[in-house]
Amino acid sequence: MVLDGSDSGVIERAAGALAAGELVAFPTETVYGLGARADDDAAVAKIFAAKGRPADHPLIVHVADADGARAFASQVPPVAVRLVAAFWPGPLTIIVPRSAGIGSAAAGGQATIGLRCPSHPVARALLLAARQAGVAGLAAPSANRFGRISPTRAEHVTAEFGDTLMVLDGGPCEVGIESSIVDCSRGRAVLLRPGVLTRAQIEAAAGEPLENADDAAPRASGTLEAHYAPRARLRLMPADQLHQALQMLGRPPFKLAVYSRPLPPGTGSGVRRRTMPEQAAEAARELFTVLREFDDEGAQLIWVEEPPATPEWEGVRDRLRRAAAS
Ligand code: TXA
Ligand code: MG
Repeated sequence: MVLDGSDSGVIERAAGALAAGELVAFPTETVYGLGARADDDAAVAKIFAAKGRPADHPLIVHVADADGARAFASQVPPVAVRLVAAFWPGPLTIIVPRSAGIGSAAAGGQATIGLRCPSHPVARALLLAARQAGVAGLAAPSANRFGRISPTRAEHVTAEFGDTLMVLDGGPCEVGIESSIVDCSRGRAVLLRPGVLTRAQIEAAAGEPLENADDAAPRASGTLEAHYAPRARLRLMPADQLHQALQMLGRPPFKLAVYSRPLPPGTGSGVRRRTMPEQAAEAARELFTVLREFDDEGAQLIWVEEPPATPEWEGVRDRLRRAAAS
């Protein structure tokens, strides 16, 4: 059931359910999360079961503040301290060495743990109320079934899991794509997943260059090639190639949806269209909603114009590339 996340009675009820080991979906500024208490392996197992996610894929643990991180981290390296100071609460996850006695299921058995302090007021209220109820933090992957599009509205979560799950409604997510993940556990900062923060922003706060994730990086479902996939086949194309294809096609004999900058006159009739915003932040905010709408309308093919190759588009380009790889 969808409940109003701005109602303090609802927050109390949700915190009680979490303390009792139940699942609760809640909004963050990035995407909606499917939460369970991270200090209870049996509660966390319910997340893996509900999502159909392999149990060795680590989840992100959400904490109320930097102090809350200390319950899960055996050590917070200096670069992580700098990143936390710069970006928490906000769309940044740090990977740090894990305290041996806690969060083993959430970490997918790894010796490290992903930690994030979200800025959404409903998430913050929930984390504080849960802490009052004795919960150290909330493991919460995106509230979608494994491999599918992340939810950015309460109704997306219900569409994934049905109406029996408790879902706190906090409106549409402002950021719209998942947090940037920086691994701080290896003696150097490694960008595992780009989000809306640019490399330059992260490097300025870290005080050191960011390395790229390589094959040695820990297993991470957000970094699998085929992820964030709509049901329809998605193709990414440069603008000129997209325009040419539409010109040649005329009226498409199949259900085609197009997400692009404005098209040349005379093209795109008979095609379901959404215009890609000029600003990367706006595109990130609406991206997953647009893909879900295309799916819901029964699109068979989705053609997307390649976004600009500039730093602020990195997160959106990453999600589109993965959606196209499915
Ligand atoms: O924006 C977000 O981060 C959202 C919202 C709900 O906060 N959460 C999210 O969680 O995207 P999830 O579970 O879908 O993504 C978790 C990803 C994993 O796929 C993996 O890439 C990385 O976080 N991760 C978590 N713990 C890790 C660890 N110990 N080592 C390496 N990667 C880890
Ligand atoms: Mg996810």
